[in-house]
Amino acid sequence: MSRTPLRCRYRTALVTGAGAGLGRAFSDMLRAEGVEVWGTSRRPETLGAAERFHPVAFDLADGDSAAEALVGRVAEESGGLELLVHNAGYGVFGGILDQPLSVWRAQLDAMLGGSFALNRAAFASMAPRGRGAIVNVTSMAVEFPIPYFSGYNIAKAGLAALTESLMLEAPMSGITFLDFRPGDYRTGFNQAMYASTPKTLSACAQRVARRLDATLEASPPPQRAALDLRRALSRGRSGVVRSGSFFQTVLGPLGVRLMPLALRRAAMARYFGVR
Ligand SMILES: NC(=O)c1ccc[n+]([C@@H]2O[C@H](COP(=O)([O-])OP(=O)(O)OC[C@H]3O[C@@H](n4cnc5c(N)ncnc54)[C@H](OP(=O)(O)O)[C@@H]3O)[C@@H](O)[C@H]2O)c1
Repeated sequence: MSRTPLRCRYRTALVTGAGAGLGRAFSDMLRAEGVEVWGTSRRPETLGAAERFHPVAFDLADGDSAAEALVGRVAEESGGLELLVHNAGYGVFGGILDQPLSVWRAQLDAMLGGSFALNRAAFASMAPRGRGAIVNVTSMAVEFPIPYFSGYNIAKAGLAALTESLMLEAPMSGITFLDFRPGDYRTGFNQAMYASTPKTLSACAQRVARRLDATLEASPPPQRAALDLRRALSRGRSGVVRSGSFFQTVLGPLGVRLMPLALRRAAMARYFGVR
């Protein structure tokens, strides 16, 4: 692994959802590498003070102008945004008919619409300087959609497609685009998700929820994902980066390429106990 500190490549970074889980680990890693970090939360007062850390309020649900204002503010305060790690996101669990349409719509507006606006603003800010990096934290759900997670599957697949679109449109921009796909990491993700989950779930959805909880409980801490991100940023090459266990990042994607779709779907249904 390159031992050159990341600050030699990126002086300033904006990390969305920097208060907990993966975002916190990414932010801590970047600060340890000497990068000045602007980190967001919907409740910035909970972020606390730390060296090279600037708390900022941001809610993906607040629309295009909030995303543009965030990037504008960070660019101004930092003297130029050089790295965006767009990590913020949340799950909504339940069958398509179990959650009101407004809940699905809100998730898509925030995680697809908000992410698009944020990427566009960061790209506009970096393009004139001809350097920087935009990292979108997607998910292995892009390759393995999770049952009872339709809004999340759509949002993450869309975010991956947006990252690929930027790679296609702007290969000579001097900007690195990363689709960073975590497998399972032990964070408060499921806890946050269950806060908005209906009390009555079908037996099948309950089996899926138990599987999701067991997998998350047995998964590695988010600091491991931060090491993978560090490695990818040091390489400075655009592309897809899978982060997690050998099964999730190597065997699974290989299976996706080799297995017929019907067989893959059956394997996923069996894994989650969907019947
Ligand atoms: N953990 C995993 O196994 C896993 C696997 C694949 C992908 N991911 C992705 O990794 C990212 C981080 O998840 P995590 O596991 O670290 O979960 P987490 O601990 O629940 O963190 C989610 C972060 O997103 C922020 N957030 C949630 N909704 C937001 C909104 N509407 N506007 C702005 N910020 C919002 C939260 O910030 P505040 O509450 O402070 O505002 C929080 O910091 C997510 O995008 C998730 O989809 C996680």
